[in-house]
Amino acid sequence: MKKIALIFGITGQDGAYLSKFLLKKGYLVHGVKRRSSLINTYRIDDIYQDKFKSKKKLFLHYGDVTDPLSVSNLIKKIKPAEIYNLAAQSHVAVSFETPEYTANTVALGPLRILDAIKKFNKKIKFYQAGSSEMFGKVFETPQNEKTPFYPRSPYAIAKVYAHWITVNFRESYNIFASNGILFNHESPLRGETFVTQKIVKALCKIKIGKQKKLYLGNVYAKRDWGHAEDYVEAMWKILNYKKPDDFIISTGKHYSVKQFVNLVAKKLQMKITWKGKGIDEKAYLDTKKCIIECKKEYFRLAEVNTLKGNYYKAKKLLKWKPSRDINSLINDMVESELKKN
Ligand code: NAP
Ligand code: GDD
Repeated sequence: MKKIALIFGITGQDGAYLSKFLLKKGYLVHGVKRRSSLINTYRIDDIYQDKFKSKKKLFLHYGDVTDPLSVSNLIKKIKPAEIYNLAAQSHVAVSFETPEYTANTVALGPLRILDAIKKFNKKIKFYQAGSSEMFGKVFETPQNEKTPFYPRSPYAIAKVYAHWITVNFRESYNIFASNGILFNHESPLRGETFVTQKIVKALCKIKIGKQKKLYLGNVYAKRDWGHAEDYVEAMWKILNYKKPDDFIISTGKHYSVKQFVNLVAKKLQMKITWKGKGIDEKAYLDTKKCIIECKKEYFRLAEVNTLKGNYYKAKKLLKWKPSRDINSLINDMVESELKKN
């Protein structure tokens, strides 16, 4: 019998990498997609239309984590062995604009899934996509599983609820429910409004004369950036560990947004120089042409200035470690983008 996995959020960056990973492991993969006016499955079209569909290994269903009926009906019908909850309004800045919707998706979504597990089959394993954003205004660096949370956005506050409701269902109902506390992870499939993809796309276009300028916010924010492909393997390892638990997944290194820009420019052989301070900071190509400016609208109302994770526990217990560094991540993102232009 093949194992059945159910992924909420299959159409997102991580959903796409995780489905490929699980299909390779021999799982039958079911995924939940939302109805939208435009087709939103481009990240998984290759596997859906291709070999896996013909062998009937990947199945898509309409649903929404804000709709309790769809959540429970799907779990009842599909009877998965493992559920991965990746569904979220995952943009921190947008969560200030849509705080209630963000809470409904990010905090109550996992509660609805856990409640359906409790009702239908307590043996289903549950993975919750936790976030380093929960550490927010950090108490210590690097952050580990014992570092207290100090969330700084409606998104991060909702993720803290999701974290604790997962722990609570584990302790109250003996459900195999685990949290992965994942630090930022990127890839060629990253959404276009997250800073890494925004930088990669813009600099590639500026290089070939298709775009004039890139506008950014706080270029001094530091993040611990890994590759999504490495991180979905960790999700699977977390659910296949001998007991449910919570794990930090990170690279242990962090860089500023400005350093990320410089590394992408280096990869593209663009010579850039920075001048000015704060909102007036600008980057020039070949010392003459201004190609990057800062804009107030891209600064966060409450910023998370620095994040760096300690993945020692995952390394020791799950035998997981990141296989790619920042340069390898940038190579992958830039090369994939150049092919599109
Ligand atoms: P993403 O690309 O934004 O994907 C989010 C997924 O959730 C998409 O499939 C989206 O569907 C779906 N979704 C949104 N609202 C939904 C709803 N109401 N009902 C059902 N599905 C819904 O995010 P990602 O980068 O893959 O991240 C996956 C998860 O990990 C998220 O929970 C995120 O918060 C968390 N996380 C991400 C990172 C990171 O650095 N990437 C780090 C830590 C934690 P559409 O395609 O229709 O929009
Ligand atoms: N998006 C964006 N756009 N961010 C900018 C910009 C800009 O123009 N300029 C500077 N930044 C800064 C942000 O202020 C933030 O400090 C940093 O770049 C990273 O922003 P994002 O790429 O939007 O990611 P994030 O760290 O806020 O959130 C991502 O990682 C979390 C894990 O720590 C998302 O994937 C979340 O879903 C995830 O939980």
